[in-house]
Amino acid sequence: MFRSHTCGELTISEVNQEVTLAGWVQTIRKFGAITFVDLRDRYGITQLLLGEDLNSLLDAQPLGREFVLQATGKVTERSSKNANIATGEIELSVQSFKILNKSAVPPFTIQDDTDGGDDIRMKYRFLDLRRNAVKKNLELRYAVNRSARNYLHENQFMDIETPFLIKSTPEGARDFVVPSRMNPGQFYALPQSPQTFKQLLMVSGYDRYYQIVKCFRDEDLRADRQPEFTQIDCEMAFVEQEDILNMFEKLIKRIFKDVKNINYTEEVERMSWEEAMWKFGNDKPDIRFGMKIGNLKFPLHSFPNKLAHLQNTLIGVGDCGFAVFDNAETVLAIAVPGCSEYTRKQIDELTEWVKRPQIGMQGLVYIKCNTDGTYKSSVDKFFPEDKLKAIADAADAGAGDLVFVLAGKEERTRKAASELRLEMGKRLGLRKEDEFKLLWVLDFPLFEYAENDNRWVARHHPFTSPKPDHISVMINNNPLIEQADKYLEHPYANIKANAYDMVLNGNEIGGGSIRIYQRELQEKMFAALGMSDEEALHKFGFLLGAFEYGAPPHGGIAFGFDRLCSILGGSESIRDFIAFPKNNSGRDVMLDAPSTIDNKQFEELQIRLDLK
Ligand code: AMO
Repeated sequence: MFRSHTCGELTISEVNQEVTLAGWVQTIRKFGAITFVDLRDRYGITQLLLGEDLNSLLDAQPLGREFVLQATGKVTERSSKNANIATGEIELSVQSFKILNKSAVPPFTIQDDTDGGDDIRMKYRFLDLRRNAVKKNLELRYAVNRSARNYLHENQFMDIETPFLIKSTPEGARDFVVPSRMNPGQFYALPQSPQTFKQLLMVSGYDRYYQIVKCFRDEDLRADRQPEFTQIDCEMAFVEQEDILNMFEKLIKRIFKDVKNINYTEEVERMSWEEAMWKFGNDKPDIRFGMKIGNLKFPLHSFPNKLAHLQNTLIGVGDCGFAVFDNAETVLAIAVPGCSEYTRKQIDELTEWVKRPQIGMQGLVYIKCNTDGTYKSSVDKFFPEDKLKAIADAADAGAGDLVFVLAGKEERTRKAASELRLEMGKRLGLRKEDEFKLLWVLDFPLFEYAENDNRWVARHHPFTSPKPDHISVMINNNPLIEQADKYLEHPYANIKANAYDMVLNGNEIGGGSIRIYQRELQEKMFAALGMSDEEALHKFGFLLGAFEYGAPPHGGIAFGFDRLCSILGGSESIRDFIAFPKNNSGRDVMLDAPSTIDNKQFEELQIRLDLK
């Protein structure tokens, strides 16, 4: 037996017991003739006391950091206790020890506050994983995994694996491809998600499927994106949107309870996509705080459905001789609470902030809503006080607030207003890490216009069904866009989908839809996306064929597992929650992958490398 206990479990109640521990040497402290060693394993740290009698042994076999050590001795009560760790009341008076393995000097200290930078810790990820901070993240990930599996199992979902070597049908992101030796010149693709397989499983009658599964997407990386990431992927047959929303908000609430001990008893808020864009400039709004957008001027076609009536809210900011507003497509305002006393310097800094290329605004107009009821703005010359008040009112500003106004092209301005709102929310401490707010965003547009290709693409994916009332609009209109810049006036721009996203604290943690399940409608959808019949058959013939054999109505959702974990763990980066992540250029710096392959491998694949 290597050990009788772990390094995290001995307490005062084990005093006088003889025990054996095994673990890694975290620190060695010598005090005269005695030596203290902190021994670490996955479960914690126990202090070892090596007395004078072991000195000659220690001289013969000196210990070093990260040595693997086995130590036997008696548990004793410590004279100076450490309340910060579970084993802080005791220590092990070592009677004998054995070095099980030596360690080279580690390239960084393996402690909570390490001296290792990102790159070195990625290269030696196996050492970084020994650190408490990283270990805690993986423990949280496992807790989320267990909780999800338990919930789904209790609700009759069946975990079914689907293949990783599949057919390349790029839609959305780029595929990673794998050459086939047995079929020279042909390639598999790694799945971007198991989407079509889970739909086939519905046709097969497995009416509740789930999988915690790797997905592969060759896309540009960000803090919340990895080229291989994990989804909690789910599908149900014989359901409507409402059934899915119910089932899966309970899943997330269950995870909150199991993992964070949070009782999320309130109803999950719901918002249409249009409302989200209108009030927050963003399809994944952080609703932990207000600061909604005041829409002062906007192109009406951006909100063709419910919100057209809101033209009544227009307060005429575009005809006051202020060229920036007069010439702008869109003018938006947000009220920053309690900041009317901001200094010139603070406002200048924020003006520079919105002018950065990532935000891309020309400038920032402000209106200070003074506590005495007066207004002071950077555009006093053009706007009399009653107009300033009207703008402030449109942004729901009160006395003491500071209103920022942004103007420019619709899409960019809305995005900028959203970014500024989030930034001010952060600066004012309104985005609290320990507060969790869920939101369903519903009624997404079915299509998105891809300017580069001059065609419609599926906003979610091509298997998502249109709202029943909008099916005829899709079928009866030619998808062709004659004038690219007039795409918003095409009937397709207004078709809404049976699609939904779950948003947590401003992050899209999951997305799904009610699917198309009739062959004819699926064919129409492919045609709307500019696919010829032959192309549709070539790419998705298997699915179209399956729909002819009794496909049930079905729908589903997939959650970004890494993303969910990182939010629950209070981190911006999903990398921290992945045991072996890739860096920003998609490299595994530990393995040094991707890498070249042997000539022999090329020969077997019958491929000649001819890089451009
Ligand atoms: P979607 O593409 O919206 O839907 O993905 C679902 C969720 O996966 C997460 N996600 C990512 N996480 C990390 N790195 C990435 N590169 C990445 N891309 C996406 C997001 C997202 O909400 N098959 C459909 C689901 C369905 O319709 O049922 C799908 O994959 O949190």
